[in-house]
Amino acid sequence: MTRPVLRTRICDLLGMEYPILLAGMGPAAGGVGPAATAPLVAAVSEAGGLGVIGGTGFSADDLRQEIRQVRERTSKPFGVDLLFPSNVAPMPKPANGGARSWRDLVPQQCWDALDELRRQFNLPTLPPRDRERESERALRSFRMFDVKAQVQVVIEERVPVLASGLGNPEPFIAECHRVGTKVISVVGNVKNARRVAASGVDAVVAQGTEGGGHTGRIGTLALVPQAVDAVAPVPVIAAGGIADGRGLVAALALGAEGVWCGTAFLATREANLTDLQKSQIVAATEEDTRVTRIWSGKTMRNVTNPLIEAWENLGVKALPMGLQGLMISDLVVSAKVAGREDLLMNAAGQISGMLREVQPARDVLAGMVGQAADLLANQMPKRVQTGVVA
Ligand SMILES: Cc1cc2nc3c(=O)[nH]c(=O)nc-3n(C[C@H](O)[C@H](O)[C@H](O)COP(=O)(O)O)c2cc1C
Repeated sequence: MTRPVLRTRICDLLGMEYPILLAGMGPAAGGVGPAATAPLVAAVSEAGGLGVIGGTGFSADDLRQEIRQVRERTSKPFGVDLLFPSNVAPMPKPANGGARSWRDLVPQQCWDALDELRRQFNLPTLPPRDRERESERALRSFRMFDVKAQVQVVIEERVPVLASGLGNPEPFIAECHRVGTKVISVVGNVKNARRVAASGVDAVVAQGTEGGGHTGRIGTLALVPQAVDAVAPVPVIAAGGIADGRGLVAALALGAEGVWCGTAFLATREANLTDLQKSQIVAATEEDTRVTRIWSGKTMRNVTNPLIEAWENLGVKALPMGLQGLMISDLVVSAKVAGREDLLMNAAGQISGMLREVQPARDVLAGMVGQAADLLANQMPKRVQTGVVA
C-alpha cells in the first residue's frame, strides 16, 4: 500500500508524518468534557498528524490519566493544550465575617439579564438548595483550572508537545525544553505572535477569526503571512477555516508550515461531542456561527442559537473570564433541566458550512493529505500557467 508524501519542517520539529495538527479543543459549558480526548487524539496521531488533548477541562490527576490513555492507543507523538489567560477574574477570599460567595461579585444587572432569558425561553429557576449545590460544583470545576499543576503533569509525563491556547506560556518554556517537550502557542494577531516568539516558543499557531472557540478579529488570509514575516525563522502553523486539502495548500502558500484544525475534527466519530452538537455542526451553513462572550467572557465563535441571539440583543456587558462562566452555569443548568440542550454552547468555526457528514478522524486526515498532495503535484501546475515571456 502506498501513502502520499507531504512534509514540511514542522513534521521534523514535532515528529509527525503530515503537517496537520488536531486543535486541542477544550470543554463546552454544560457539555460532556473536552472535545479533543484520547480517542480523537490517538486517531489523528495514528493517521500521521499530531493529536492534541484539550487539556483545559481536566484536573491535573485526570489529565495524567488522559495522557496515559492516549499512550495505550498509540506510540506516536501527541500534545496537550492548556490555557494561560492573563486576566481571569480573582475569586473572593473568605472575609473576616465569613465566606463570601462569587455570587456577590456578579452585578444585579447580570442576574436580571439571566431572569429575563429564563422568562423568554420558559426555563425554570432552580430552588435555592439546588442552586447552591450547582454553585459549589461550578466553583469546584473552576478551581480545578490550575494551570501550574497541569503543566507539571505534562512535564512529568514527558508529553512531546505543549500547546498554549490563550496567553503566554513563557514561565514554563525552559522547563519544558529541559525535558524535550516542544512548546507551541496560539495567537490571533501579529503583536501576540511577536510576543510568544520572543518568549522562545518552538512554533506559533496563527488563528484567524474564522476559527471555532476563542477567536480574534483578523481573518486567516490576512493574519498568516503577516505572522510569518513577523516571527521568521520561527515556524508558523495556520488555523481558522481549514478543513480540506485546499485550505492546507493555501496555508502553505501563505508561508505556514502546517495547519491546526479544530472544526474539521468535530464532525468525526471520535470527537467528544453529543450527537446533537455534531448534527448542529453538520447542518450549519457558513453563516450560522457567531462570536459571543456569553459562555466564557471572552470572544468565542459558536454555532449560534436563539439563546445566544437573545443574550446579544440584551446588550449586557459580559463579566471577566472565570466569573462569566460561573454565572452562566446557572442558566446552563436551567436549560438542561428544561431539556433544552439545543440552547447550550457548541463552539465551531465558519468552515462548519463545508462539513456534511460525521466521518472517522483518519478519513478526514487522509482526505486532506490526498487532496493537498494532488493539488500541489498535479492540479495546480495544470490550472496555473507560470514561466517568463520576453
Ligand atoms: C469546540 C472547540 C473548543 C476549543 N477549545 C480550545 C481550547 O481549549 N484551547 C485552545 O487553544 N483552542 C481551543 N479552540 C480553538 C482551536 O484551538 C482552533 O484554534 C480553532 O478550532 C481553529 O479553527 P477551526 O475551528 O476553523 O479549525 C477550540 C475550538 C473549538 C471548535
